Amino acid sequence: MTTRMNELLSLPGKVAIVTGGAAGQGRVAAELFAQQGATVVIADIDAKAGAEVADQIGGTFVATDMADEAQIAAMVAHTVETHGGIDILFNNAGVGFSASPRFKMAPITDTPLQAWDAILDINLRGPAMACKHAIPHMVERGGGAIINNASINAIAGVNGADAYTAAKGGIVSLTRVLALDWGAKGIRTNCICPGPVATAMINDLLDDPDFNSAMTTSIPMERVGTAEEIASVAVFLATPAAAYINGAILPVDGGWSAK
Ligand SMILES: NC(=O)c1ccc[n+]([C@@H]2O[C@H](COP(=O)([O-])OP(=O)(O)OC[C@H]3O[C@@H](n4cnc5c(N)ncnc54)[C@H](O)[C@@H]3O)[C@@H](O)[C@H]2O)c1
Repeated sequence: MTTRMNELLSLPGKVAIVTGGAAGQGRVAAELFAQQGATVVIADIDAKAGAEVADQIGGTFVATDMADEAQIAAMVAHTVETHGGIDILFNNAGVGFSASPRFKMAPITDTPLQAWDAILDINLRGPAMACKHAIPHMVERGGGAIINNASINAIAGVNGADAYTAAKGGIVSLTRVLALDWGAKGIRTNCICPGPVATAMINDLLDDPDFNSAMTTSIPMERVGTAEEIASVAVFLATPAAAYINGAILPVDGGWSAK
């Protein structure tokens, strides 16, 4: 027997776009969206891994560079043509904390303009452009859910990651304004702010015992999060169980931001 609560957590017939769905939190979210009954479109720059995940969950992969508005617009159009509309947008793709100088994490005085632009383009402009192109289709469906993946960096400054922190702060503000602009059309926009999560993004850092120890002791639960612990919250926010949540900025951080 399906209980009322199980129904509220289900997404039958819904179409969900997951950006950055080829790996990490996005990959687990794509799996969970599919398990809850949604048709999933994975938009990622990593074609090989993205196609593998799409095959595994019976979804669709669209190669998309979130720094490129034309590619985002084409991905949204492809989703509508293939699946008839859009109900859910999980703006999750992001870069940072990588060894690549292209995404150099540094104080502003050491941040090359091209690194600032690359990080802001993918982490802030990309999600904004995805909203720009997806929202009209959500309006056509009579509503929808947007979930933005920010970071605890957006809640309290984390020194030395200036471009990343500024981009994630922008995501929080974007969430609030979209919640105001589109709530009356039935579109709920919410934001999750994960603490450190064990994915490829920070695995190299977590391999450093000193960094790992400093990180875990700063978290009341004394451990970093898992991709599933973030992805499950993103999926929850898309379901009818979260029907009255709009404009929320939700830390998912083991209590880090409670300090
Ligand atoms: N891992 C953490 O500690 C942590 C903490 C807080 C917030 N976040 C945020 O969570 C989100 C997901 O990160 P993750 O931890 O799963 O990292 P990840 O590196 O495992 O996954 C990121 C995904 O984004 C994709 N991607 C990167 N650049 C892209 C682009 N230009 N266009 C399209 N796709 C692109 C990658 O191919 C990958 O599939 C990011 O927005 C990140 O900033 C991560």
